[in-house]
Amino acid sequence: MIDPPVAVTSSQLSQVYPLGARVNESGHLEIGGCDAVELAREFGTPAYVVAEDDLRARARSFVDAVAARHDDFDVLFASKAFPCTAVCRVLAEEGLACDVASGGELALALSGGFDPARIYLHGNAKSETELREALTAGVGHIVLDSLHDCERLERLVAELGRVQEVLIRVNPNVAGTTHAAISTGQADSKFGFALDQAPAAIARVRASPDLQLVGLHFHIGSQLLELEPFRAAVRAIADLGDFPVYNLGGGLGVPYTVEQHSPAIADYVEAVVGAAHDLLGQGKRLLLEPGRALVANSTVTLYTIEGVKRNVSSWVAVDGGMSDNLRPMLYGSAYEALIADRATASPTERFHVAGKHCESGDVIVRDVPLPEPRAGDILVTPATGAYGHALANNYNGVPRPPVIFCRGGSARVVVRRETYQDLMRRDVGP
Ligand code: LLP
Repeated sequence: MIDPPVAVTSSQLSQVYPLGARVNESGHLEIGGCDAVELAREFGTPAYVVAEDDLRARARSFVDAVAARHDDFDVLFASKAFPCTAVCRVLAEEGLACDVASGGELALALSGGFDPARIYLHGNAKSETELREALTAGVGHIVLDSLHDCERLERLVAELGRVQEVLIRVNPNVAGTTHAAISTGQADSKFGFALDQAPAAIARVRASPDLQLVGLHFHIGSQLLELEPFRAAVRAIADLGDFPVYNLGGGLGVPYTVEQHSPAIADYVEAVVGAAHDLLGQGKRLLLEPGRALVANSTVTLYTIEGVKRNVSSWVAVDGGMSDNLRPMLYGSAYEALIADRATASPTERFHVAGKHCESGDVIVRDVPLPEPRAGDILVTPATGAYGHALANNYNGVPRPPVIFCRGGSARVVVRRETYQDLMRRDVGP
């Protein structure tokens, strides 16, 4: 036994695992009423397992929290966090609108049933093709990121003889505390118009006969665990004029480990909507754009342990890795892990959970206490719903995992596992 022995507790489950996660009578982890060990047997591993009720509950938490404070609003799902038709469909059913940042995300949002009028197209390097696709689909709003973006859209809209509603992305020069790679609000950024350039951009778009400027947008970064930067960003854009619409971005962080604490959705909403009321005035249309906070904790990844090894450290090797979760490698992100077969067993030792890829950096979790892991056990990492499937890749020719929705004890595959044939799908010629 290691000291202190830390078997998973129900409060730990409720903190980082999906809503309703529990340990069942067999001592197995259960997600959405489904036994994780049986899921692994039925669908194979690695697999992303989503508790559908968790997705729905978080969507409702956002909507209810804003509705309690403000009449005219929309909550946009930042679809980059989990770009998948089925996730879009659930969140569209829950009444959310959608943020897309590419033609591909637009296609997924449409296939998931989002009303094009409630889709917002973002992007610092939108292509002409993507702009045309958005106009053809009838996307409600396009968020302008540069003067070139503005001029090109103006030309395309004029060709169609219409007027397009747009927002301007402003960089508020407010950076929260997060990994540098996902901080976007600092002055030196590829995103949006600098604060001192925003007035000219606003005047330019206001003068356009083809574009109708309805408001401003900012997004200062991602995995933010403090609320003050959101307020500071609202303050920074408040002097740029009076607009009917303000998109206050996403960025609310989530707990990946039991040591991490994130603001509750209601507290975040209270902070940003409160700041908007204080600093932007009443009667505005407010848009929030969460990605991670909607989807991260809805999902766990199931892996099979392929081997255990001890040298300087103790290692558990699993059948996935940086092809299904790139976040530890990109941002040094920490995760929890447990053995689904013995979910409450006391840990015996600390392990690094390594993936199957041909790089030493392919380590999914470091120093995690586990109870005598052995080959064939099902290892689970929670909080993989945001930017897991989204960043998945085929390194080492590894097919990407399926996405499985669980609800009330029933499981259904919503994205199938890739096959080796899929790896050759784009080959041309003999
Ligand atoms: N709105 C805009 C314009 C964004 O660029 C993003 C995220 C969001 C909303 C949603 O942010 P969220 O609520 O999910 O923090 N791959 C990184 C995260 C990159 C976020 C990019 N933009 C990660 O895995 O941490």
